Amino acid sequence: MRDQIFTKENDLVNFTFDKSVVNVFDDMVRRSVPGYQSMIEMIGLMVKTYGQNNTNYYDLGASTGAVSLALSINNPHQHNRIIAVDNSIEMVKKCRNNLDGKISNFDVICSDIKDISCENSSIVVLNLTLQFIPVKQRQALINKIYQGLNPGGVLIVSEKIHFDDEKKQTEVTKLHLDFKRANGYSELEIAAKRQSIENVLITDNKKTHFDRLNSAGFSQSLCHFQCLNFASFLAIK
Ligand SMILES: C[S@@+](CC[C@H](N)C(=O)[O-])C[C@H]1O[C@@H](n2cnc3c(N)ncnc32)[C@H](O)[C@@H]1O
Repeated sequence: MRDQIFTKENDLVNFTFDKSVVNVFDDMVRRSVPGYQSMIEMIGLMVKTYGQNNTNYYDLGASTGAVSLALSINNPHQHNRIIAVDNSIEMVKKCRNNLDGKISNFDVICSDIKDISCENSSIVVLNLTLQFIPVKQRQALINKIYQGLNPGGVLIVSEKIHFDDEKKQTEVTKLHLDFKRANGYSELEIAAKRQSIENVLITDNKKTHFDRLNSAGFSQSLCHFQCLNFASFLAIK
């Protein structure tokens, strides 16, 4: 279904993943996040390299299940479990509907990801989710994920990022707006969504991401993909 949530002038409310967003989420994410499809494809590629047999794969902030599907389709191991977690009950229902019958060894859990332990995991994915966690709670979440990962396991974090350099930030913001316009969003929709989401989606810069991953204990971390102001990080335990 096409995203038309911000086509009319409404009273400003903070963005939430409620039923109206769930119904249009797949269209919204593809038209708003440059490189989204590539992020998903890269996650599929990484399962083949970093997935370990008899372990769990966690998709934290799973939304409609695109990452879980990529994990499953590319999984080379028979005895692994995919655990998709989201705290929006409407997303959980949609994820279950989308994936039931398509993939096996799969659980969808409605929970705050801060309450999940990720034990015996070889792959944990936070695809566009960490940016919705309060900034002060992010380090504790990454630390906990690190504790649950097996040696050699990986965390993949994709996020909208910002640049401290004002000129770079201005240029990349311009290009991101062009991307949205080219995908059919009007000026009114772009402005209304920005207002609705600006207190909810809080970006970090790249250095903050690397510092957080290092501080959790990851032996290596790198930015394996970037398109404008969206980047994906791979951290190896
Ligand atoms: C932008 S979407 C993630 C997109 C999805 N990972 C994908 O690749 O298509 C963010 C998701 O995180 C979920 N979320 C936000 N905060 C959460 C939390 N504290 N615990 C669990 N899920 C959360 C939202 O409900 C939403 O479905």
